[in-house]
Amino acid sequence: MPGFPIDVHLGEHGLLDSIADDVRRGLSASQKFLLPKFFYDEAGSNLFEQITDLPEYYPTRTELGILNDISADLMKRVAPHDLVELGSGSSTKTRGLLDIGYRMVLARYIPFDVSRTIVENACEDLQRRYPNLALHGVIGDFERHLGLIPRAEGRRLVLFIGSTIGNLEPPERLSLLTGIRKLLSPGDFLLLGMDMVKDSAVLEAAYNDAAGVTAAFNLNMLNVINNALQADFNVEEFRHRAHYNHELDRIEMHLYARSDQSVHITDLDMTVKVDKGESIWTESSHKFTQETATSMIQEAGMSLDTWYTDPLHYYGLALITTS
Ligand code: SAH
Ligand code: AVI
Repeated sequence: MPGFPIDVHLGEHGLLDSIADDVRRGLSASQKFLLPKFFYDEAGSNLFEQITDLPEYYPTRTELGILNDISADLMKRVAPHDLVELGSGSSTKTRGLLDIGYRMVLARYIPFDVSRTIVENACEDLQRRYPNLALHGVIGDFERHLGLIPRAEGRRLVLFIGSTIGNLEPPERLSLLTGIRKLLSPGDFLLLGMDMVKDSAVLEAAYNDAAGVTAAFNLNMLNVINNALQADFNVEEFRHRAHYNHELDRIEMHLYARSDQSVHITDLDMTVKVDKGESIWTESSHKFTQETATSMIQEAGMSLDTWYTDPLHYYGLALITTS
């Protein structure tokens, strides 16, 4: 038995419990699509961890560099009792904040993610590192279960880093940010991580890495659908490609059929034809400027307190308040 509570708001199959409607809708559209939240089964979460170490994938190490630079000042300024992290993954980048918070007034860390294994592993590791810190894992969908996050007395800092906000479309990200706002009382803070608009060659290299890890991550989405809905996607007959959309400031990641495909999805009683060269769109990764980030924050009824970035302005971290 773990020495920490884990609240589970998703069924045995995690996000896949609600996958049927989303897959039917996505594969019936004229531009076929699947949702990026379905990347993160156990294999997908492990592949994402490998992506974060790739030489081309600058966001993780750039964000970590900024966090290391600002952690001491930030924790002194905010002095949180409760640290809630949305889409926490392995919680690796959070360690610097926890190291400092642990020596101050931080009493509890709440990692929130869809992936149960990754939250359990993170909590076990953190328990060894910080024996006196209370840990409370939450397994849920941040688009549905924010209201179920445990609340305590004292100041709260919500972390939503990793640029996961960029994987949502504008209406969904507005409703998520509005939901996060409701988690904040006066004096609480949100720290939001965003990848910035930059040279498209740098962006495209980060999502088409030479070792093919991002390709494996993208293709794994088809394994997820095969397993969840008894489908027969032939993964080898698809290839990964990501390109930058300059008009909409986003990387778009697709799976292109190498040949005509007929895919049967038993649980949906549905057959999908994918023509040679046709794509299934699996992810958008929106990129921001300080201006677009500020208006997004204001639109959700919050204010930018401090903007942190790196010397190349590759990545931004916004400290946000409710006032
Ligand atoms: N914060 C970590 C991980 C980023 S990867 C980092 O910065 O490296 C994105 C994380 O968000 C994954 O762990 C994934 O499981 C989680 N995630 C994606 N969609 C989610 C959703 N709808 N609800 C909760 N977690 C989600
Ligand atoms: C989690 N998210 C912010 C990553 C991104 O960069 O959009 C997911 C990812 N997709 C491909 N590589 C990494």
